[in-house]
Amino acid sequence: MIRGMVLGYDTQSWQNFRVKVPVTIILPKKNSSILIAGKSGSGKSLSARYYLYQILHNRESYVCMADYKAGEEYEALEGSPSYASGENAFQMLDTFYQFFNEVRKKRIRLKKHYTLFIEEWSGLLTYAENQSKKQKTDIMAKIGEILAVGRGLNIGIILCVQRADASYFSAGTRDQFQVVISFGRCSAEQFRMLGFHGELEENPTANYKSGQALVLVDGQEAIREITVPWILNEKELCQQIRYLLDRQPDLTALYRAAAEGRSTVK
Ligand SMILES: Nc1ncnc2c1ncn2[C@@H]1O[C@H](COP(=O)(O)OP(=O)(O)OP(=O)(O)O)[C@@H](O)[C@H]1O
Ligand SMILES: [Mg+2]
Repeated sequence: MIRGMVLGYDTQSWQNFRVKVPVTIILPKKNSSILIAGKSGSGKSLSARYYLYQILHNRESYVCMADYKAGEEYEALEGSPSYASGENAFQMLDTFYQFFNEVRKKRIRLKKHYTLFIEEWSGLLTYAENQSKKQKTDIMAKIGEILAVGRGLNIGIILCVQRADASYFSAGTRDQFQVVISFGRCSAEQFRMLGFHGELEENPTANYKSGQALVLVDGQEAIREITVPWILNEKELCQQIRYLLDRQPDLTALYRAAAEGRSTVK
């Protein structure tokens, strides 16, 4: 049974009554892709690790990670076949895309959800663009395609970016995320860029501490304010993620199995 993933706790209920009301989503076939935006230090990456830990621990999804920035906070993951840092992140995106493509072409019905986590999307794209314009547009197109049709195939993306600029997404791509989370202070411009609307524009995000965010979930009318629980031991969290990654199948093997149409892909 899927328990769902906690994005955070409703900030209002917590501040007003000290009651923890979780804001929960279900990834498989439902809220399969998440956009995490926010300025540097607003809590994107740590919250993302809290999310990844949950989906792995609850067996809600397998996870592949492309970390171009190669932040030291991910040190415990170095060497895992499910984690790629620096330039290897491009290979990871490519392998994941090929896997997605085989699943789509061969109409493989995945029983398990698959998540591609992309850390620091803008940095990755800027690097790609410096290599060639084509590399950037290629990557944007591939990610756009996964976002557009992945949900029905049980494949999704969790993507972190400081600003959700139009230049980082191909047309319409930003609207393909079923969940949009904005950490920290959110300018009126970002508010609209994220597809938000309503009374929470500008206020009260000016006073947000790191780990506080606005969230909009597909199919829900209103934006909610959430607070991610305080994580005491970041290192331990990452080690737990590593432990769980080591117990999931490796993507390259899955891709080969999918390409050969073997039934081991589930
Ligand atoms: N839920 C939390 N519990 C404990 N500490 C937190 C939490 N959220 C954020 N922090 C603190 O804020 C710091 C910055 O958070 P984080 O690295 O997630 O920011 P970021 O948005 O990814 O920034 P950047 O864009 O620079 O990568 C963390 O290292 C941590 O010290
Ligand atoms: Mg970060």
